[in-house]
Amino acid sequence: MIRVLFVCLGNICRSPMAEAMFRNLVQKKGLNGRIEVDSAATSSWHIGSPPHKGTLAKLKEYNISSEGLSGRQLDAADFEKFDYIIGMDESNITNIRDMLGQPDHPKILRFLDLTEHQKDVPDPYYTGDFQETYDLVLDGCAALLEKIRADHALG
Ligand code: 4NP
Repeated sequence: MIRVLFVCLGNICRSPMAEAMFRNLVQKKGLNGRIEVDSAATSSWHIGSPPHKGTLAKLKEYNISSEGLSGRQLDAADFEKFDYIIGMDESNITNIRDMLGQPDHPKILRFLDLTEHQKDVPDPYYTGDFQETYDLVLDGCAALLEKIRADHALG
């Protein structure tokens, strides 16, 4: 099994959106037996919380299931468990590295570094623009799946 973890500050806006969208993509491509998806926060602020209503509305609009999304905090054990630990912005990456004690490990990646876009996913908790987040996450998910296919020689 290939395991992917999306990480943001609160685990209620960007990373649960990415979790749901990437799981949806994996299912559409028939890879759900091969790739497992989860998300987590660097903060402890929203442990056990459902996603933000803006994230839930965007997922609903695009017919993507939000089942099982619940806030949790990144844990030291996540470093061993996951093959790809994907931060939404540069400050997430700094915090992930600190929390996992891994100053520069290739499995810790900034999401949009896989794309041609601007490099941080803006935080819709502050911008209010969940469509912008959706659009960037959509492209990030496609790029991540391509990388995983290449890394693991998946057809
Ligand atoms: P996220 O956004 O990191 O994309 O989940 C945020 C969610 C909550 C807060 C900040 C950012 N907050 O301050 O509670």
